Amino acid sequence: MKYPFYEAVAADFQAVNALIIDSLSSHVPLVEEISGYLIEAGGKRLRPLLVLLSANACRYNDRDHIKLAAVIEFLHTAMLLHDDVVDASDLRRGRKTVNAAWGNPASVLVGDFLHSRAFEMMVQIGNMRVMEILSTATNTIAEGEVQQLTYVRNPDLTEENYMEVISRKTAMLFQAASHSGAVLAGASEAHEASLRDYGIHLGLAFQLIDDVLDYDGNTENLGKNVGDDLAEGKVTLPLIAAMRGGQPEDAAFIRQAIMNGGVENLSKMADTVKRAGGLQYALSRAEAERDRALESLSGLPDSSFKDAMETLANFAVARTS
Ligand code: IPE
Ligand code: IPE
Ligand code: MG
Ligand code: MG
Ligand code: MG
Repeated sequence: MKYPFYEAVAADFQAVNALIIDSLSSHVPLVEEISGYLIEAGGKRLRPLLVLLSANACRYNDRDHIKLAAVIEFLHTAMLLHDDVVDASDLRRGRKTVNAAWGNPASVLVGDFLHSRAFEMMVQIGNMRVMEILSTATNTIAEGEVQQLTYVRNPDLTEENYMEVISRKTAMLFQAASHSGAVLAGASEAHEASLRDYGIHLGLAFQLIDDVLDYDGNTENLGKNVGDDLAEGKVTLPLIAAMRGGQPEDAAFIRQAIMNGGVENLSKMADTVKRAGGLQYALSRAEAERDRALESLSGLPDSSFKDAMETLANFAVARTS
């Protein structure tokens, strides 16, 4: 495996990957074909990893964390199938998106299938508090996506509005992963809170960097196209910060591009945002969230799992993929 943070739970991680494949069975061949297409393309599987690290850091000694990790990856994958329709994206994990290859209806409907398969498996685990965490998280994520939709092409979006959207649409699932792993393990209230807080701050750092990479990243590393945010009129922190801190003519250019969705201006836009300090500012916010994630871990006993979570927080900011 490419990154060191998988090593602490390597055997569990393998078991999760096997269960993910085993759990795709459907009476309808197209469901298996499409879900297999996206799932076999891989992905970093950070959210299931987080379940495993969290449960192990809390000394869990049963097997349901494997299923819980697969559940979280299915929820994530379902969201990606819907997200690529909403964002009109045509590359994901280095392959054509499902919407590009099969069309929007197939992507939406197979997303629904994976979402509901996740709920079937969650019920098999049968832990009421875990179900509560996951159902609240999915509800909040849906609200975040709708809230983001209401902000499209709005150049007056504030940093606060933006942070609220990303805490809902992205950080909530990271939080649910680390929190539910601790709950499953029967952790103390203090350890549960530490891992919940770690998840939210990690998730915020992760999305802040995702939004930087949408201007500054490389398609081959990311396995997705850069520039999709601007194309769909999505106002992210690099743009908000650049309009606030840049020269008046740069701010005016960015403002216009947001309102027009100027994808033909992508390289000029990326240069302008960079020159006006937008990428640097978003990076510094991501570093601050990483630091809060690291602080959240301080109350946990030392272990290889805690070390891996520290490495993972650093990766969330340093990543290029
Ligand atoms: C993509 O998440 C969606 C975001 C929250 C930015 P990942 O970057 O974790 O996607 P995969 O699963 O590794 O492909
Ligand atoms: C991800 O936001 C949030 C989700 C709920 C999937 P993005 O739309 O930025 O994710 P990518 O860049 O397409 O992976
Ligand atoms: Mg997207
Ligand atoms: Mg999106
Ligand atoms: Mg993105």
